[in-house]
Amino acid sequence: MEKVSRLEFLKQLGFGGAALMATLCAAGTSSCKSNSASTSASTKDFTLDLNQSAYADLKIVGKFMVVQDVVIACTVAGTYAAVTVICSHEGKKQVGYRESQKDFYCTAHGAVYDQQGKGKSGPSSGGLRVYNTSLTGNSLRIYS
Ligand code: FES
Repeated sequence: MEKVSRLEFLKQLGFGGAALMATLCAAGTSSCKSNSASTSASTKDFTLDLNQSAYADLKIVGKFMVVQDVVIACTVAGTYAAVTVICSHEGKKQVGYRESQKDFYCTAHGAVYDQQGKGKSGPSSGGLRVYNTSLTGNSLRIYS
């Protein structure tokens, strides 16, 4: 009897494309790598002390930092926008903030998102996960 891999077996059963991926993911195989899974992953809740020199840039309007895979931008004095660094196009961690356009931009292929994470232009029609921000004194909380 011919030995076939699980992948070949599922293909022979007629599984293909998304159905095959869903089946493999449900089976917990290592081949389960989905952009949507990574972009929707994980809740966040952390607080940054803006008095620490490491976060000094966040006191400057137009600057941004990436902390725990979250792009945090100071959009207006004392006001912040926070989105995932993971682009919804192909899952690259290349999203940053552009002060000149006051938007989020992925350097991989040029996807543009507004400050609410909504896709504006470029190759991605999906949006970015947005996180809440709350500033109390010099403590900036980022949370889901
Ligand atoms: S991965 Fe961001 S634009 Fe393609």
